[in-house]
Amino acid sequence: MIEVKNIHKYFGENYVLKGISATFREGVCNLIIGGSGSGKTTLLKCMVGLHEPEEGSVIYDSRDFTRMNFESRIEIRTEIGMLFQGSALFDSMTVEENIMFPLNMFTEQSRKEKRERANFCLERVNLAGKNLLFPAELSGGMKKRVGIARAIAMNPKYLFVDEPNSGLDPKTSIVIDELIQELTEEYNSTTVIVTHDMNSVMGIGENIIFLHQGEKWWEGSNKEIAHTDNKELNEFVFASKFMESAKAKF
Ligand SMILES: Nc1ncnc2c1ncn2[C@@H]1O[C@H](COP(=O)(O)OP(=O)(O)OP(=O)(O)O)[C@@H](O)[C@H]1O
Ligand SMILES: [Mg+2]
Repeated sequence: MIEVKNIHKYFGENYVLKGISATFREGVCNLIIGGSGSGKTTLLKCMVGLHEPEEGSVIYDSRDFTRMNFESRIEIRTEIGMLFQGSALFDSMTVEENIMFPLNMFTEQSRKEKRERANFCLERVNLAGKNLLFPAELSGGMKKRVGIARAIAMNPKYLFVDEPNSGLDPKTSIVIDELIQELTEEYNSTTVIVTHDMNSVMGIGENIIFLHQGEKWWEGSNKEIAHTDNKELNEFVFASKFMESAKAKF
């Protein structure tokens, strides 16, 4: 479980997160949704220590990450798997080397152990045998799956995924969502996903927070979202639905 308490974040004059508090549960997909610029990625980055909030705390199973020194944070970092916007694979490394990267960084495993782990993770995302390809030789969906394989290489207790479906066709998006959900259940991980894909929201959104202009505007489940009378959330949901039906027309 991860708790964020009263997170405030400024970039200069720009007040981006205005006191966000939320609980992200283990074994389920926790979604952060909201319009572009609402602060979703910033919140995720504050949670993993890529940004420092001006105020507030992030607590990993009773461990206060925000108040830890560098060394103590490393311990929690080894329990975190991340897949950020755009996959961010290393282009000059093969698929296998990409997946082995966190193992090289954080473990003392032998080359053989690391290779076996890479093979296991590749199999898990249905990419067995693609070890020696370079990212440029992969489709968008395959890149995402390699990114997921790298994110799970360390058996993470906490999994962070920013826009897993951006740039993917709807069918591949569902495959990726289902994969993340399966892994979450399998590892009982606390998974936090940033998305603005309504299919994902309805499919895997067991615990959702909706950000609006840097504030937590609503929280609930996919079952509740359809019946909400929250104006801004409805606009967000409706705009997505409208886009879908518009796309279907053309
Ligand atoms: N490193 C940064 N330096 C300065 N301002 C930033 C930085 N990162 C984000 N911002 C600002 O913070 C605000 C929120 O950005 P953020 O990336 O969190 O939005 P988002 O909800 O993830 O949007 P999107 O759906 O487009 O990815 C924006 O106004 C953005 O300009
Ligand atoms: Mg973002």
